[in-house]
Amino acid sequence: MASLVKSVDQLVSKATCLFKEIFDGEAPKIAACAPGRVNLIGEHTDYNLGYVLPMALPLVTVVVGSVASGREATVVTVSENADEPRRVDLSLPKEGFPPSELASEGCPLAPGLPHWANYVRGVIHHFRAHPLPGFRAVVVSSVPLGAGLSSSASLEVAFYTFLQQLRPDDGNKISKAIACQQAEHTHAGVPCGIMDQLVSVLGIESHALLIDCRSLESTLVPLTDPGLVFLISNSNVKHSLASSKYALRRAECEKAAMVIGKPSLRDATMKDLEGSRDQLDDVTYRRACHVIGEIQRTVKAADSLKRGDYQQFGKAMVESHNSLRDLYEVSCKELDDLVSAAMEVEGVLGSRMTGGGFGGCTITLVKARAIERTIEHIQRRYSGTPTFYVATPSVGAQSLKLP
Ligand code: GLA
Repeated sequence: MASLVKSVDQLVSKATCLFKEIFDGEAPKIAACAPGRVNLIGEHTDYNLGYVLPMALPLVTVVVGSVASGREATVVTVSENADEPRRVDLSLPKEGFPPSELASEGCPLAPGLPHWANYVRGVIHHFRAHPLPGFRAVVVSSVPLGAGLSSSASLEVAFYTFLQQLRPDDGNKISKAIACQQAEHTHAGVPCGIMDQLVSVLGIESHALLIDCRSLESTLVPLTDPGLVFLISNSNVKHSLASSKYALRRAECEKAAMVIGKPSLRDATMKDLEGSRDQLDDVTYRRACHVIGEIQRTVKAADSLKRGDYQQFGKAMVESHNSLRDLYEVSCKELDDLVSAAMEVEGVLGSRMTGGGFGGCTITLVKARAIERTIEHIQRRYSGTPTFYVATPSVGAQSLKLP
């Protein structure tokens, strides 16, 4: 539950202690943090330039550090269950190194091992103000890894925010999110959309963000009704092939848009899709059907939420889940079971898988008075061991003052 989640202050003191331990008693001078996210509706629509409705979470990644002499960058990370801190020593490219060669083999920041450091390498590579001074940094996080709550985006955005204090860029938030998304593409090998990085940068307390992934404009949707709670249930499973299937889905959508004759599925209507049905194989048709339907559903659902029509919003959540399960085929038994169990409880208005799928979490809209019994019921019905979080809409990335 939310109260068990480490606060930013706790994470900062943990990172500070570790920093002192590793770097001979030196105290870190700068700190930054960025949140993970949960998406309320609008799944697999961002890379089709459609709409998404995520919120930033109180689960965050914190980076503390200081400037060091020379061109060396030392980054240490420790995860909740890792016994030993993991360390990587990177050399920053020399001044004047051509940006076009930054990702080439042999370049100091080219992707490599350990894999987790690729997020850091990628963010340094795509950072929008070079050269950077050498630095030392310690990273800690309360965002569960591989749970579909964007631990990687929170690491990228927290790290970028840290670098901004070493060397300020122009401060443009959208460009910052795009740079972090690029890091994920070029260095982690995941062709993700913009949702995770954008909400990690722009998140606002007490609000979800309706993001238009074509214009990158966002509209605030207040979530202040004390009678309602968004509950995250983590299945604690992650199926392999999740990222290769993600890339495949993206390619299927591009193929569908091409056959329909539109630049992206955002530009296609159900009528366009039906008009091209004969030229589409069944799988591609169903993928496009999910995306076009989900984009429309997301806009309508955001409107229901604004109007306080929670029944309608809950209904849209379930429709979204069914479409992801049957048409887009990115759900799995564990997620379907969590959704079914939640929907059996009186006071639950809607539930769906959230994030990329193939494991990870569900998000459930439930009346505040029914929260305990919802958790108990899911625990009883789900065959694995779920973890629960109350999704409190939180602030995006920030630099932090050290005590
Ligand atoms: C992952 C990606 C996002 C988005 C979701 C699915 O979280 O990082 O860009 O595509 O999957 O909605």
